[in-house]
Amino acid sequence: MTLEEKAKMVIGCSSSAFTGYGNSTLYVPGSAASTAMIERLGILPSVLADGPAGLRISPRREGTEQTYFCTAFPIGTALASSWNTELVENVGKSIGNEVLEYGVDVLLAPGQNLHRDPLCGRNFEYYSEDPYISGKIAAAYVRGVQSQGVGTSVKHFAVNNAETNRKDNDSRLSQRALRELYLKGFEISIKESKPWTVMTAYNAINGQQSMESRELLTDILRNEWGYEGYVMCDWAYAGLRNTQKEIWAGNDLLTPGSDQQYNEVLEAIKNGSLSETDLNNSVERILRIVVKSPRFHGYKYSDKPDLQAHAKVARQAATECIVLLENKDNTLPLSGNGKNVGLFGISSYDFIAGGTGSGSVNKAYTINLLDGLKSYGYNVNNKLSEFYTEQVTKSIEALIAKNPIYAYLGRTSLSEVSISDKLIEESASQDDFAVITLGRSNGEGLDRHAFDDYLLTGIEKNMLSKVSTAFHKAGKKVIVILNISGATEVEPLKGLADAIVCCWLPGQEGGNAVMDVLSGKENPSGKLTMSIPITYFDTNTYDNFPYDYTGPAAMGKYAVTPKPERKNVHYINYDEGIYVGYRYYHTKNVKLSYPFGYGLSYTSFQYSNPTVKATKDGFTATITVKNTGKVAGKEVVQLYVTAPDGGLDKPACELKSFGKTKLLQPGQSETLTFNVDAYTLASFNEAASQWETAAGDYKIYFAANIEDVRGSGAYTQKKAQAWKVNNVLKKQ
Ligand code: BGC
Repeated sequence: MTLEEKAKMVIGCSSSAFTGYGNSTLYVPGSAASTAMIERLGILPSVLADGPAGLRISPRREGTEQTYFCTAFPIGTALASSWNTELVENVGKSIGNEVLEYGVDVLLAPGQNLHRDPLCGRNFEYYSEDPYISGKIAAAYVRGVQSQGVGTSVKHFAVNNAETNRKDNDSRLSQRALRELYLKGFEISIKESKPWTVMTAYNAINGQQSMESRELLTDILRNEWGYEGYVMCDWAYAGLRNTQKEIWAGNDLLTPGSDQQYNEVLEAIKNGSLSETDLNNSVERILRIVVKSPRFHGYKYSDKPDLQAHAKVARQAATECIVLLENKDNTLPLSGNGKNVGLFGISSYDFIAGGTGSGSVNKAYTINLLDGLKSYGYNVNNKLSEFYTEQVTKSIEALIAKNPIYAYLGRTSLSEVSISDKLIEESASQDDFAVITLGRSNGEGLDRHAFDDYLLTGIEKNMLSKVSTAFHKAGKKVIVILNISGATEVEPLKGLADAIVCCWLPGQEGGNAVMDVLSGKENPSGKLTMSIPITYFDTNTYDNFPYDYTGPAAMGKYAVTPKPERKNVHYINYDEGIYVGYRYYHTKNVKLSYPFGYGLSYTSFQYSNPTVKATKDGFTATITVKNTGKVAGKEVVQLYVTAPDGGLDKPACELKSFGKTKLLQPGQSETLTFNVDAYTLASFNEAASQWETAAGDYKIYFAANIEDVRGSGAYTQKKAQAWKVNNVLKKQ
């Protein structure tokens, strides 16, 4: 290969940037970039396109009537709420099949950053506040997609937990928090599922840009974890980063790529600031993936994946992601409540399938709750439906007029509208029950706000209270559906609603999936993968979460809500250390709206016969779960471990394993087995730069959620164990 050819291989090709040697959108319109084509050597491009809630490509192409829609699956947070790795793998298979059949080679997903703070605008793409479940779910997703012979890109590596000023923000944290929380999920998914590629993050970590950090990409990712694929950077345009440093660090592919970067590579080799060995290594790593890609093998893709079959997978997955938060006096399932529904809330009529930005999917349709109710034979109050349908049209027009980017990036949820007392009163007198949907969507480039976003808006509270009062006065029930992207205020709902159902952003089959659960056709079995604080200000991160409502946000001119507040947006101090999410709330006994791992069912489960047996390397635990109720259901069991006193300071307990039963019929039991090795029990000791599993007695808890322990056991680690690692990415 000539030097010029090598330089081409490390530069991404996209419509917007590196024009000389290819343009991925010529192969697949709407894809994000590709690797270079070098005809002389028979090297074909490998096309990269976004995810993770499904494949993101353009749905229409010039000169043809054919459409290229993709299936919108539930968002990452929802998928994780299923706690079902088999289900996630299956979703991955369907997504991977669309990737393959639309001629794409690598899907830019999954996203698996941690939910450090509920306001992070991209939390919806990510899985949890806990790295263990994040890693396991990501691994299942990668296995599923890659089973189809295409690749994935786990992202954004690493410590990318806010969107504000995302290209110029330094995450400052202890090595312990870095290793135990922010890298742990990646470590699990990378070791267990071998993603073809990894995408670095925009932000810096302790002063080192992720994409320029040799400590991150070579010392940790490759040398410690044995990663063999290639690394690409998040879409950093030329000039923003140091080209030569990126290649030196082990960030192989510079995406989206530019002519300037190509010249910089050549120049750096010529002036000796980049060694040809480093360049060769990057080229080799990229080529090893290119030759695995379907396009390289001449795969004849159909451009016609089986969208109907995938819609079924999306619907079934969405039902299992639903978390039932409240169900007073068995309000649900609906049987016997009558067929006339007062359907409130603008999102009932404009259900939100997913988030915005690169994670949004160009789907053929979204089933809203109105459609879902109708297909189950319910009559929706006509006046309400006319009122809200008109409001939906008006609000969409206003939104796009104000901000045309929504037409491209996928628009955000519509703000709730005021509704007259008269419409509420009429519905309460005529209809049999009320359903209210509260919607929240957000996405790439912008973080959420505490007020009017995490916290309910005045209009929402007013509507909820009026509908609740009117229906309750008439002796009728009120059901609230949370069509939300992530943790949002729910405390005020508890007194107003008889049932609260959180369906997240459930993908294109949302309205059907919700009705499958409301009707009792499916029994909800999802559980929260994050804690829901009573108010945003109960988090321990709010003082160290950046926001900038005045200046240019990451999307620059597309920043939508000017407000006269601004905090430091150039670095984030992770002062809370390892006390993120339940590690903080549970350890410090902070009262929550709902704890980590929480979720109800239409049936009840009894746990019995907990056992814990030491193995050569850790322990194996078992518990028997029996369905003691009247309907079939699945139960998620979480295994928490409390470490012995002494040694490093530890959270009250940590999730170290989980399992989900199959569908248990009434009276049926299943014994779940959990294997935990000594390394999984380890904490990170910064002073010695090593992982340590202390000797002593570990308490093992089998729990329905972190606050609901149903069985326990003990494990004795006879000898302390330690694993030395590189002393890198130190806090400055
Ligand atoms: C996003 C990535 C995405 C990439 C390509 C970036 O702005 O942060 O998640 O994969 O664009 O579209």
